[in-house]
Parts: sequence; C-alpha cells; structure tokens
Amino acid sequence: MEKLLIQGGTPLQGRVGISGAKNSAVALIPAAILADGPVVIENLPHIQDVEIYVNLLKDMGASVLFEDDWMEIDARPIHKTFMPNGKVKKLRASYYLWGALLGKFGEAQIGLPGGCDLGPRPVDLHIKGFEALGATVENCKGVMIVRAKKLRGARIYLDLVSVGATINIMLAAVRAEGITTIENAAREPEIVDVATLLNNMGARISGAGTDVIRIQGVDILRGCRHTIIPDRIEAGTYMIAAAATGGDVVVENVIAKHMEPVSAKLRELGVEIIEGDDAIRIIGKKEYKAVDVKTSPYPGFPTDLQQPMTTLLTLAEGTSIVTDNIYSSRFRHSDELRRMGAAIKIEGRSAVVEGVTPLTGAKAMASDLRAGAALVIAGLIAKGNTEVEGLEHIDRGYENLVQKLSNLGAKVERVTLGEAEQ
Ligand code: UD1
Repeated sequence: MEKLLIQGGTPLQGRVGISGAKNSAVALIPAAILADGPVVIENLPHIQDVEIYVNLLKDMGASVLFEDDWMEIDARPIHKTFMPNGKVKKLRASYYLWGALLGKFGEAQIGLPGGCDLGPRPVDLHIKGFEALGATVENCKGVMIVRAKKLRGARIYLDLVSVGATINIMLAAVRAEGITTIENAAREPEIVDVATLLNNMGARISGAGTDVIRIQGVDILRGCRHTIIPDRIEAGTYMIAAAATGGDVVVENVIAKHMEPVSAKLRELGVEIIEGDDAIRIIGKKEYKAVDVKTSPYPGFPTDLQQPMTTLLTLAEGTSIVTDNIYSSRFRHSDELRRMGAAIKIEGRSAVVEGVTPLTGAKAMASDLRAGAALVIAGLIAKGNTEVEGLEHIDRGYENLVQKLSNLGAKVERVTLGEAEQ
C-alpha cells in the first residue's frame, strides 16, 4: 500500500503538459473492437483504467501492443464475448463492451460495471437504447446478457443526458441496418472524439457534439489511426491547483474551448486566466471571493471537477454553494476536508462552504478518483504535512501525478506505507 506525502505551502510555478483524455481512452479502446483491421490510438495516458482495459481486450483474444503513448489494437482474433466478473468490475467504462460487442458480434455477456462510488449509477438508458435497436437485454445475476440477431436503426430519446448511454448506443448502432438518431444526446468533447474515431473507421455519424446524433449504419469498419483529445478534467485539476496555491502555471496541450466552463468559474472567483491556442496560463491571487457552482452536462461545469473546486472554495471569502446536479452524493471528500479545517455543510445535493478557513495537514483517505484530486490540492495548500491514502483511485485517472506536481515545485512524494513511519 502506498500513500502520498505532501508538504503544503509552495505556490505551483511552471508548465505542465496534459495527457490524453481518460474518458475518451476508455471508450476508444473498446470502439476498436468494431474494426475489421488494426486501430492505432495515439496520445494514450498511462493510467490504471487504460491498463485494465488492455487486459480485458487481451483476455477476450485481441492482440494489443501498448508502447509509449500509442497502442495498436487488432480485435480480429477476439473469440470471447463472455466476461462475467473480475476485471470488468474494476472500472465503470467496461459497460462500453456491451455496445461494442453487440455491434460487432450481436452478443455480449459482460458483468455490471464498477467504478467510483458516487451514489446510484443506473444503466437503464443503455438498456433502453439497445432494446430500441432490436436487442434483448437480460440481467442474469449481475451479468448483462445483450443479444440481437439483427440490429436495426431506431429513433432513441434519452430521458437524461448520459455520456455513457450516448456512446454505447453509437457503438451498437454504427453497424446496424438503417438510420439511428439519438435525441437529447450528451455533448461532451469525448463523444465527439469517439465519433471521430468511428468515422475514421468508415462509420457515418453526424451531429456528435450536439444533442441530436444521426448514425447511418454501415456493413464494414476498417482499421485507422486516431489521436486522443487532451484530458479536460486533468487540465482543470491543475488549473484549480495552480489557483489554490497562488501559483503561476501554464497548462499545455489543452483545447481552451473545452475549458471554458472551468475558466469562467475561476475568473468569477478572481483568478487571472490567459488563454493561448493550446495552452492556458493561470495566475493565482492571494484573495478570492465566494461563488456558487452548479454541475451540469457539457458545456456546464463538470461534476468531475466539483470536488477539487470545493477545496479551492475554502480559500474564498464568504459562502459558496456547490450543487451537484449529476451525482447527488458526490461529497465524501468533504469529511476529510473538514478534518483539515474546512467549514463545509452538506445540504441535500449541495455543499455549503464557508471561507476563508486555513487548512492544516492531516491524514486523509481518497474515497474516489476526484476526491483524491481534491485532497491532493488540500495538501498542497495546507499548513504542514498531509498524507493521502487510497492512491488506487487516483492512479485510475492521473498520469504521472507526482512527477507533474514536482516539476511545478510541489513538495510531494509517493511512499510505501510503513516507510514514512521509519
Ligand atoms: C461519465 C464519465 C464520468 C462523469 C459522468 C458525468 C466516463 C467513463 N465517465 O460517466 O467521469 O462523471 O460521465 O459527466 O466517461 N444515468 C441514469 N441512467 C443511465 C445512465 C445514467 O439515470 O442509464 C444518470 C446517472 O446516474 C447520472 C447521469 O445520468 O446521474 C449522468 O450519468 P452519465 O453521463 O451516464 O455518466 P457516466 O457515463 O457513467
């Protein structure tokens, strides 16, 4: 077991390069199953979720070569569409195997997914989409059995905006007969990224990035080469960390447009933000004013940055209300922040943050991926030393976190439990 040791109080300074998007990577890798030839994906982050996915594909028989930041996937040797448990439970995005295997083989038997515990995370919209395309879906003791003799295009309205359901339906529909339209589709940049890969393979998808996506089914999808977009959540995490420490950081390899919801909110607090073509400079200040944050689907403020943002708001003068409209109970980090000195009350699906409350170093446990990011930022601003445990969550989504923070001047190291006490 490992933990992070953080000595707080150093303003972050310098430049940090952003890796490829986790939430794209975990959809693009299964999307490669649909191709009848090798797919090369570039700018892949080295994170646990990607490693797990590679192993899943290899277990199914695919040939996968993962070198530096690129991967070649040849899914033609896949001979297994049955994976009830084990690795599929280690990540949320294993649900994309339903859509990809259904689209390619007309069958998938894959266990229900795991991932961060953020409260209820149903998959009814995925099921609704598959059924509309003509599949039968059965939940057999936690294993989803999805089958179709023939998939036919359909008009599908999503009752809620869902990233996962939108992508899963696209994966199943690209080889269906006829036209599928997804209405009230999610508009996240990762959806555009997946549609771009699929179109490079020969799919005919239009409208990705809007709330109506149209998919004209095709018979054959070929291999191709694709570069993943930058991770807007990783970028946002460094932007918030830079602001929180009163630092001056250039976040490189970003798409500034994707960062607008975050940049706008940081400006409202009083952070200075200078946008370049593919870089954003964040100049932190000594004082911030309280703001309200409401998460919503893209282009709203991302729920995945709500937790790191809450840490920053402990430094803002006044009362900030953070409302998570996507996940009602994504507030488990607030107990840990309170132990470090924050004044946070949870009221329904909102966290009420009173600032300014100087934080003091403590032992803290990351309960999920972005809670981990929130606690690391807390450690960076706290007086004294902070120990963050639960690194298995952080490793799922942040490439080279310690290295990147150290390059920015942070005093952070990763130690094996027990080593620190010696
Ligand atoms: C994705 C992201 C995750 C992010 C989330 C919201 C990946 C791998 N993960 O998760 O990082 O926090 O989007 O931006 O891309 N819902 C239903 N029924 C469904 C599906 C979803 O009720 O069938 C609800 C969810 O409980 C949630 C909301 O819809 O309240 C949005 O969830 P969704 O966009 O599907 O999240 P994920 O795709 O799982």
